[in-house]
Amino acid sequence: MGTPFIQLLRPTNLDEYDRDRRPSEQSGDVPKTFLDAMEVREQVFVIEQNVPLANEFDSDDARSCHWVVYASINTTTEPEVKDAEGNIVKRKRSVTRSTPIGTIRLVPFPHPPHPEPGSVFTFNAEEEPAGPPPYITDRPTTFHDGKEPYVKLGRIAVVKEFRGAGVARMLAHAALTWAQENPTFFNPSVTTLGMENLGAKKLEDIPVWKGLVCVHAQESVEKAWEKWGFELDEGMGTWEEEGIKHVGMFRRLPIVSNAAI
Ligand SMILES: CC(C)(COP(=O)(O)OP(=O)(O)OC[C@H]1O[C@@H](n2cnc3c(N)ncnc32)[C@H](O)[C@@H]1OP(=O)(O)O)[C@@H](O)C(=O)NCCC(=O)NCCS
Repeated sequence: MGTPFIQLLRPTNLDEYDRDRRPSEQSGDVPKTFLDAMEVREQVFVIEQNVPLANEFDSDDARSCHWVVYASINTTTEPEVKDAEGNIVKRKRSVTRSTPIGTIRLVPFPHPPHPEPGSVFTFNAEEEPAGPPPYITDRPTTFHDGKEPYVKLGRIAVVKEFRGAGVARMLAHAALTWAQENPTFFNPSVTTLGMENLGAKKLEDIPVWKGLVCVHAQESVEKAWEKWGFELDEGMGTWEEEGIKHVGMFRRLPIVSNAAI
């Protein structure tokens, strides 16, 4: 694998994405970087972890930032040919292609309520409400008071053959650094939405992101998120999503420009 590089896709219109089709069968109007992210998610979550294809895309995708890591992969198209004496009569031909190998997304607030401990959650595209969830007061947990706006990292996936080489670390670092350097990006505009839609009665109630980041981590990956600075939120408990046990974890980023992560 050549030196991997990373691409960011900011929130974008995905109205043309058809959840029932594979990424390779989507309309040309869907941004290429998103198709690449979905190609990785298809390989990892749909094929490897048996999540139904239609459940892999959700309404959070359009309002999220997505990062995709690409590797330059060299493939031999025509092998070298030698004559009986061992002299090369035809040189090897190869092509180098940028292949998507990893992805992560960052979902802005507001979010649906924290899952109830012990609950079992299966995504149902038909029941999914249109647009983002309303601003609510959630149940307090160990690290979340139920009110503070938080962003959520998720859908981290690395293609099997490229695991163990630091690709997920690179993705988590890229998303956390970007969030830290763009702290006001997701703050809502009171002028556009109005106080009532923001669940605010007074100016101090207007949601402002102060650096809180959440993950709903597959239990088997909890230790990796710990390495990236997240702490298990005992109060959130455990629950099941698409048949996989999950835990809640939080990290607080100091919001200072150019701060090291
Ligand atoms: C989890 C996953 C994204 C890790 O990708 P990766 O590129 O292999 O991870 P990295 O090589 O960047 O690993 C970074 C660190 O996390 C550790 N780590 C990675 N996966 C781990 C796991 N499942 N359990 C414990 N530690 C893990 C690595 O040992 C490494 O530690 P180090 O920095 O001390 O060397 C990848 O295994 C994957 O796609 N799994 C299937 C999808 C999935 O489960 N996603 C998680 C949803 S919450």
